Amino acid sequence: MFRKQKSLIGLDLGSQTLKAIEISLDGAEPVITGFARVEIPAGSERSVALGQLCEQGKFRSKAVVTGVAGQNVVVRYISMVPMSDAELRQAIRFESDKYLPFDAQDVVLDCQRLERRTAGEGEAANEEQISVVLVACQKSVIHSQLQEVILHGLQPSAVDVDVFALANAWELSSAGASVAEDGTPVGVALVDVGALRTQINVLLGAETCFSREIGIAGGDMTQAIARRLGLELFEAEAVKRTPGEREVEVARAISPVLEDLVSEISLSLDYVENREGVRVEEVLLSGGGALAPGAVDFIEQALGRPTRVWNPLEGLRVDADRVNIEELEASAASLAVAIGLASRVRAA
Ligand SMILES: Nc1ncnc2c1ncn2[C@@H]1O[C@H](COP(=O)(O)OP(=O)(O)OP(=O)(O)O)[C@@H](O)[C@H]1O
Ligand SMILES: [Mg+2]
Repeated sequence: MFRKQKSLIGLDLGSQTLKAIEISLDGAEPVITGFARVEIPAGSERSVALGQLCEQGKFRSKAVVTGVAGQNVVVRYISMVPMSDAELRQAIRFESDKYLPFDAQDVVLDCQRLERRTAGEGEAANEEQISVVLVACQKSVIHSQLQEVILHGLQPSAVDVDVFALANAWELSSAGASVAEDGTPVGVALVDVGALRTQINVLLGAETCFSREIGIAGGDMTQAIARRLGLELFEAEAVKRTPGEREVEVARAISPVLEDLVSEISLSLDYVENREGVRVEEVLLSGGGALAPGAVDFIEQALGRPTRVWNPLEGLRVDADRVNIEELEASAASLAVAIGLASRVRAA
């Protein structure tokens, strides 16, 4: 689906906040040449916010990459007998019913061979097989997403999966060095806490070996604050972002949500570590939900692993004539997916 182009917009259609990052290639160097972020007001149409986003961004390009997430996307890590990439593409069409809860004719399927041999889900490792990640998304979901961006004058260039975009952003930023000095791959967990969902992508070296989506995130924290502090949702949202003197109260109100979230993350990390025989050394948080008062410390303590919010802008040059750097930096934590989507400009 790629055409020659030097600028590409990564459009993250988040459930609460729309984020767009344009990356242009200056020679081989990626440079951020556009940025916009618009919150979708409660109860309002996404389309209005998207219109504002396109206006705000003053992008050079119309070419856009969006991502899919949620229940309409299924990602599976499977084992296959060794075969060429062309054969693999054929084979998954026939294999897909085994792994997917959808009718094959209703979905867009894609797959990628993994470098690292991992045991498929529910299997023992078998050295004679290859590991493949299989992705399926309902056609209707992709069609309506494409239609929406076309209506706003954009030209879809590719559709990615949010949780993989997260890993691409990590790889693009200078933060993404995940190989130990002796060359062995280091396990890191990228965890993006959004409004509606939390996405986990565990990388070994540069490669994803596990991904999962959890339906617990910032929106649940806002609801917990509203309940515990007797506030309206919009007030709870404001106090979560700027708690001032109520910081301790807010942190206490959201702790049951964080407990639930951490227990899901912990299950995932245990599963990967057992399956791969490695240790996840570090947890790297992104997404607006990770900024809630006390969240980083809570997660770090509960998971017993070094945990921090990472900045996907690190090491990326920004065109200061086109982008307000202060505004960009202020949103950094929630831009990982948009940056990862736009990073595909390098493949153009
Ligand atoms: N400064 C802040 N402090 C605390 N929470 C914040 C802050 N800024 C944003 N949030 C929360 O982050 C969430 C939005 O983050 P983000 O933009 O990553 O989500 P999204 O991409 O729209 O959602 P999703 O990925 O679930 O579709 C909201 O729950 C919001 O309340
Ligand atoms: Mg998001």
